[in-house]
Amino acid sequence: MPVVRVNPLEPEPDVIARAAEVLRAGGLVAFPTETVYGLGAHALDPEAVARIYEAKGRPAYNPIIVHVESAAAARVLASEWPPEAELLGSAFWPGPLTLVLPRAEAVPDIVTAGLPRVGLRVPANAVALALLRAARLPVAAPSANRSMQLSPTRAEHVVRALGEDVLVLDGGETSVGIESTVLDPTSIPPRILRPGTISATDIAAVLRTDAAPRTDVASVGSLDESPGGDSARESPGQLDRHYSPRAEVRLFPPSRLDTTLAAVREAAARGVRVAVLTRGEFAAPGIHHVRMPDGAAEFARRLYSTLHALDDGGCQVMWIEMVPEGSEWDGVRDRLRRAAHTRGEGGGGGMDDRRG
Ligand code: TXA
Ligand code: MG
Repeated sequence: MPVVRVNPLEPEPDVIARAAEVLRAGGLVAFPTETVYGLGAHALDPEAVARIYEAKGRPAYNPIIVHVESAAAARVLASEWPPEAELLGSAFWPGPLTLVLPRAEAVPDIVTAGLPRVGLRVPANAVALALLRAARLPVAAPSANRSMQLSPTRAEHVVRALGEDVLVLDGGETSVGIESTVLDPTSIPPRILRPGTISATDIAAVLRTDAAPRTDVASVGSLDESPGGDSARESPGQLDRHYSPRAEVRLFPPSRLDTTLAAVREAAARGVRVAVLTRGEFAAPGIHHVRMPDGAAEFARRLYSTLHALDDGGCQVMWIEMVPEGSEWDGVRDRLRRAAHTRGEGGGGGMDDRRG
C-alpha cells in the first residue's frame, strides 16, 4: 500500500476516511503523532493487534499503548480513574504523556501483554486526532519501527523499516522527536517507566495539589539493571538495548572531548566511518561533526532524525557528547544510554556501559 501525503495541520477528510476504514477492517495504518510515527490497529480487535506484533517483530511480552481522542475516551478503557489521571490528563493531554492505569475488561490481553494495566494517551497531532475521530475506535500503536531499532520521525523511516505493505500517512516530520513519557500515576510515589519530554518536575508540579497530594515522582532508574527480572516484564520498554541505530554509539562527557577526539582520529585513520555529535563548537578538520541544539526540547526533536541520517550515510561509529543532568534532559539522556548499550560482542559501550 502506498505512502499517502496528508496536510499535517488540516488533514484531508477523504484521506483520513480511507485510513479509518482500513483500521475498522482490522488492518494496519502508520500515522504521525507529535512524538514519533505509530503503527496503529483497532485496539479492541485481538487479531488486528496481532498484526502489529508480526509487522514489528515485537516480543509478545511488550504491551502496546492505546491512543484515544480525549480523556473521556481514555476513561472508558480504564477500570479505575484516579484523581491523578484526571489532573494529569487535564494538564498534558493531548500530549506526550502515557498513563498506565488498571484496564477495563474491553481491553484485550494482547494489548497489555497480559498485564493488569493499560497504557493510554491522547496524541497532540492533527492527523492522529482526525484518524482517531474518524475511526471511532481506540487505536493500539507502538512506534512504527522494527523492534529494538530507532523510532521513526518521518514517513520514509517507516517505509524503510516496515516495507511497502502498510498504509503510511505522511504528515511530515514529528515535532517532539522522542517517545512519550510513560507514567504509573498511582504508585507511591508516581513512577516514570520511560522518561520523555514531560519531565518528573512537570508531573510533580501538577500532582502537588490537595486532590492528589504527591510531591515527588520517581524515575525508573535502577529498574534498568535487571532486564530479565520482574521490573522488565512490568515495563519492557526499559530493556537496556533499545532505540538503537545500526552504527555503534559511544558516549563521552564534555570534559573528555580532547581524549575522545584522539580516539576518533585514530578510528578514522583506520578507515572507520565516524561522526561526532556535540552541542558546542568543534574544530577537527576531516571529522564529520553534527552540531546538536543547545536546549533539551530542540535536541530531542533532532535526535532520531540525526541518527537515522547518519545511519543512512553509512556511519559506523558515532561519538555523542553526553547531555547535562537535570530533569528536562531525562528523556534524551535515557535514549542516548540505550542507543549506546553494548551488544554483547565487545563493541564499545562508551561511558555508560551497563550490562543487564
Ligand atoms: O510516543 C509514544 O509513546 C509512541 C507513539 C506512537 O505514541 N509510542 C511508543 O510505543 O513509543 P512503543 O510501543 O514503542 O513503546 C511503548 C512503551 C513500551 O516501553 C511499553 O513497554 C510501555 O510503553 N507500555 C505500554 N503499555 C504498558 C503497560 N500496560 N504497562 C507498562 N508499560 C507499558
Ligand atoms: Mg518503540
